[in-house]
Amino acid sequence: MSFFRSFTFASLLMAGTGLLFPAASFAGDHHGSRGDDDDRVPPVTDPLTRQECGACHMPFPAALMPAASWQAVMGDLSNHFGEDASLPPAKVTAITDYLTRNAGRGSLSTGAPLTRISEQGWWVREHRNEVSPRQWEQVGSKANCKACHKGAEQGDFER
Ligand code: HEC
Ligand code: HEC
Repeated sequence: MSFFRSFTFASLLMAGTGLLFPAASFAGDHHGSRGDDDDRVPPVTDPLTRQECGACHMPFPAALMPAASWQAVMGDLSNHFGEDASLPPAKVTAITDYLTRNAGRGSLSTGAPLTRISEQGWWVREHRNEVSPRQWEQVGSKANCKACHKGAEQGDFER
């Protein structure tokens, strides 16, 4: 909790979805405070998570999905978006603990948790009118955050 309070991007309730918005700045004029550290999403600091979840893609910041989504991802690592990302049980437990403790707040009112950041309602809204089909084609995947957000690994999603 104190971890979260130290960041002013603390979640806003998103009506309708039951999900919480991870960054206050996303909701309004996100260009107005460019360069302000308060807009940053805390990057992954846990060494084990950085190592194991940063091997194939950048380690995605815990705050970008609610705990239920991380639990769903961590509960099915052998079937991880077409890859086998299995880990020994002790590592699974430790990483799940880190991700859920630092997760975005929010409860899912209905349905199964979304296992992609790029499926979360706020993410879809944030990108819908900002990226052309041609740009998506160039970066290959929505999950390729770093292709567009150079500072993504440091938790900086301004661009
Ligand atoms: C063996 C390689 C590999 C490892 C290790 C791995 N991943 Fe992934 N991950 C992938 C692939 C492949 C995708 C799909 C990427 C795409 O759609 O372009 C993915 C996608 C994701 C996504 C969805 C991204 C989005 O928003 O579309 C999340 C969340 C994720 N991984 C979390 C994790 C976590 C947590 C760990 C550590 C426990 C981890 N990954 C370890 C290969 C891996
Ligand atoms: C094809 C380029 C592209 C990719 C790939 C991409 N984004 Fe973005 N993203 C944008 C654009 C453009 C915006 C809106 C412009 C802005 O906010 O500066 C944006 C906005 C955001 C914002 C809001 C920033 C703010 O301060 O308002 C976040 C957070 C974000 N993206 C996270 C991600 C994450 C996490 C991923 C990977 C799962 C990702 N993006 C992948 C282009 C991209």
